[in-house]
Amino acid sequence: MPNIDNSTSAKTLADLGAGNPTEIRLLFGVQRKDFDIESASCSDFSALESLRVKWIGRKSILTNITDNWLKPAAKEIKPIVGQALNELKAHVEAVLGERRQALEADFNARASHGKEGVDLSLPGVTRPIGSHHLIRQVFQEIEDIFVSIGFSVVEGPEIETPYYNFEALNIPEFHPVRDDMDTFYLDLPKGAPSPLLLRTHTSPMQIRTMEKRKPPVRVIVPGKVYRRDNPDATHSFIFHQVEGLAVDSDITFCDFTGTIEYFVKQFFGPGVKTRFRPSYFPFTEPSVEFDVSCIFCGGTGTSAGGGTCSKCKGAGWIELFGAGMVDPAVYGFVNYDPKKVSGFAFGMGIDRLAMLKYQIDDIQVFFQNDVRFLRQFP
Ligand code: DAH
Repeated sequence: MPNIDNSTSAKTLADLGAGNPTEIRLLFGVQRKDFDIESASCSDFSALESLRVKWIGRKSILTNITDNWLKPAAKEIKPIVGQALNELKAHVEAVLGERRQALEADFNARASHGKEGVDLSLPGVTRPIGSHHLIRQVFQEIEDIFVSIGFSVVEGPEIETPYYNFEALNIPEFHPVRDDMDTFYLDLPKGAPSPLLLRTHTSPMQIRTMEKRKPPVRVIVPGKVYRRDNPDATHSFIFHQVEGLAVDSDITFCDFTGTIEYFVKQFFGPGVKTRFRPSYFPFTEPSVEFDVSCIFCGGTGTSAGGGTCSKCKGAGWIELFGAGMVDPAVYGFVNYDPKKVSGFAFGMGIDRLAMLKYQIDDIQVFFQNDVRFLRQFP
């Protein structure tokens, strides 16, 4: 129980010698002043509670004033005492309410400050700055080389229809090359207009580009491709390609070899030699496989230690990518006149190029995102 100072309020007005309105108001004024001083220094919830008990609790100063001043007061002065008491009570209640609100606001402010607390003296959090993935860097290198000789970069959907992925590239339904390009098909609701698959190569963008543009066309298409391959050091069910396509009224096999050689020398360095071998793709005629002299043994087939070069297996050559002159049949699918246009196309595996150039022996590291690998290519 707080120590309630009831000394004045314990006495009657007669004891205090207050008989007229002025003296009564003076007495109430002194009480009010006392309360104001006490409430001003009340700075926490428990002090506020003590103050409340002292002034308006059951055995408080205001109950004393009611009992000792008001009740025994003479009839003529009773209304004055009553009115002054009401005013004092209203004042005490109002001030107690205000103090409570102020303390609560202060409390909440502190609490939320603690939660979201900004301590300006703490050192900041330094986040490591990321870098482009090696595959992205190699895409960029290749794009820069081709853009510098007049190609533009286009991208296409990874989810394709069999029409774009196969048929329009002159690969009809039961063509044997489809065996090498098994892929993932999407589960579609019954009655969907066409099956959908994850594209097995970037070549569908040849068709999409020629459908939209009239010749001359010079584009490269970087992107992700998918195949139902089991993962090992050189296979992954997802990998990356850059497709190239150039079609115009007078493009010859010479333009084709010149362009490809220029690219390879820019990419691997001027010392490399190149060669073509006949090959087969349904959408090119003639088709070639493009090789580069082994960048590990300098084309000798012998490693520095004297043994057979393990990279080219002694051949001195490394197979780089497939290419060829666009098969006239393909023009039929995009309403180009095969008598008026000619062109070449190529498709290279970026993971393979990156592995060769940066001497990486496992394709899986591209997809594992191990920072110890990523940091080697800042
Ligand atoms: N699309 C072929 C593949 O993924 C690669 C290719 C070969 C693309 C010859 C071409 C090309 O544009 O002319 O195996």
